[in-house]
Amino acid sequence: MTEVTMVVNGKTVTRTVRGNTLMTEFLREDLRLTGTHVGCDTSQCGACTIHVDGKQVKACTMFAIEADGAEIATIEGQAAPDGTLSALQAAFQEFHGLQCGFCTPGMVMAAAALLRDNPTPTEAEVRHHLEGNICRCTGYHNIVRAILAASGQQVPAVAAE
Ligand code: FES
Ligand code: FES
Repeated sequence: MTEVTMVVNGKTVTRTVRGNTLMTEFLREDLRLTGTHVGCDTSQCGACTIHVDGKQVKACTMFAIEADGAEIATIEGQAAPDGTLSALQAAFQEFHGLQCGFCTPGMVMAAAALLRDNPTPTEAEVRHHLEGNICRCTGYHNIVRAILAASGQQVPAVAAE
């Protein structure tokens, strides 16, 4: 067992973990931050996307001990303390960028990382950036629209059926 200390959503936490504790398990079970979802555990779905020292990471691909000393952001830290949604979260709501919601935390975290690095991405850049995040419900179009709206850009119309 190893003691790890990290800053999670602005709060310093210290816990003792096994060497093979995944970051997903650490967040969900040790810290009870269950917004980070586990869809595949094999680095394919993106539902577990978090930020580690400002970089987008799939939490199922790292051990908690690797995050020792790091700054972690999860979906729980995206809204303001009073519950006001971030601009991205509000755009997902407004543009119906979710249905069942399972992929949504990962989508929002991936999109937040994109907009931080590229505040006005093209539609193609948004779609390319989301390649590692799978959604089984929406068909992606409204997710892309929400991200473009959150970046302050023109939102493409819904494609004709
Ligand atoms: Fe991590 Fe699917 S649970 S990528
Ligand atoms: Fe259901 Fe994306 S909204 S998986």
